Amino acid sequence: MSTLVTGIAELVTNDPEAGEGPLGTLADAALVVSGDHVVWVGAARDAPYADTRVDVGGRAVLPGFVDSHAHLVFAGDRAAEFEARMSGTPYDGGGIATTVAATRAATDDELRGHLRALVEEMRGQGTTTVEVKSGYGLDVEQEARALRLAREVTEETTFLGAHVVPPEYAGRTGEYVALVTGPMLAACAPHARWIDVFCEPASAHAFDGDAARAVLSAGRDAGLGLRVHANQLSAGPGVQLAVELGAASADHCTHLTDDDVDALASGTTVATLLPGVEFATRSPYPDARRLLEAGVTVALATDCNPGSCYTSSMPFCIALAVREMGMTPAEAVWAATAGGAAALDRGDVGRLGVGARADLTVLDAPSYRHLAYRPGVPLARALAI
Ligand code: NIG
Ligand code: FE
Repeated sequence: MSTLVTGIAELVTNDPEAGEGPLGTLADAALVVSGDHVVWVGAARDAPYADTRVDVGGRAVLPGFVDSHAHLVFAGDRAAEFEARMSGTPYDGGGIATTVAATRAATDDELRGHLRALVEEMRGQGTTTVEVKSGYGLDVEQEARALRLAREVTEETTFLGAHVVPPEYAGRTGEYVALVTGPMLAACAPHARWIDVFCEPASAHAFDGDAARAVLSAGRDAGLGLRVHANQLSAGPGVQLAVELGAASADHCTHLTDDDVDALASGTTVATLLPGVEFATRSPYPDARRLLEAGVTVALATDCNPGSCYTSSMPFCIALAVREMGMTPAEAVWAATAGGAAALDRGDVGRLGVGARADLTVLDAPSYRHLAYRPGVPLARALAI
C-alpha cells in the first residue's frame, strides 16, 4: 500500500543534492511512502500514482526529530529542586538520588505508563526517534528493569548504570564501578544498544576519567556502542576520552578547551548539545559556533529528565540553539534531525530520501525557519501515515 504525501510547501530532505542549501529543501514538493519507507521524493507536479493521498495543505515537512539523549524511565519529579536552583542553588547532580529513590519504589506499570506518556508527548512535538537511558535504578535488577521497559518503546536503549554512585555505595566508588562493569553490565547488555557514563570530576556524585574509561571499555567489550556525558559542569576529561575510544557521541560539551575542540574535529565523535539543560540550570550555553567553525558534527537533543532539564520539546531546543548558541535556523534543524541520526549511527532516519524511514514531521507553518522564529508555539507534530 503506497501513500502520496502532497501539498508540501517546503520539504526538508537533508540531502543537499536533492534540493536547495544544506537542508536540501524542495518547494511545492511531494513524496511517496510504501510500508515504512520513502520510495519517491520530488516536485508535486511530477508525483507518481499512489494508492492513497494525504494533502498537508501548504505546510512544511521535515524528517522527524531524532532526540538522541533522554532519560525517560523514572518516577516523581524535582520541581522543588528547580525552584531552589532559580534562587541560586547550583546543579551538581546530587538530586539524582531523589529520583533513584522514587524510581526504585515505583511499579513496572507506573514506570511504563509514564515512559509511554513522555514518548507520546515527544511525538506530539515532532520527535520520531528517541534514545532512552537507564540510570535511575543503580542496582542490577533495577537497571535491567529500566532497560527492559525502555526497549518496549525504542531500539535506542542506553545502559547508564554509571550515572552517579548510589547512596548505599557512598565513599566506595571503586566497588560500585566493579558492580557496574561486572554483574550489572551482564544483566543489562542484552537490553541495551549503548553504554554511557556521567564523566564529571567536578561533581561529588559522578565519575572521574579513570572510572569512565573502565566503564566504557567494559561496555565496548560487551558489544555496546559508546556515549559519554562529557564536560557538562567543567572542562574535564570526558570529551577527549570519548574521542579516543571512538564514542558515537559526547553529550553536553558545555565547557571545552581548545584541545577538546581539536579532538572532536579530528575524530568521528558527534558533539551533542543539550541547551535545555543550560536553560533549566541557568548556566552558560555551549558555543556551537566554535564547534561548527572547527568542522565538528553537532547534534541537538533534549536530555529530557526530571532534574537538569524537564522538557520533551525539540522545537524548544532548536529555538534556544538559534537564539543562544549562534546556530542558524538551518544548522539547528539539521542538528535536530541528521545530527541526531549521526549521534546514533543511524542512516535510515534524520533524512527524507528514497530508502529512508517514513518518519515525517509536519509544521503548522510554511518553512522550517518558523521553528526558531515562533518559539514556544506548538507547530510541529509527527505525521501518522
Ligand atoms: O544529562 N548529567 C547527568 N545526568 C543528567 C541529569 C540527570 C538528573 O539530574 O536527574 C543530565 O543532565
Ligand atoms: Fe543526560
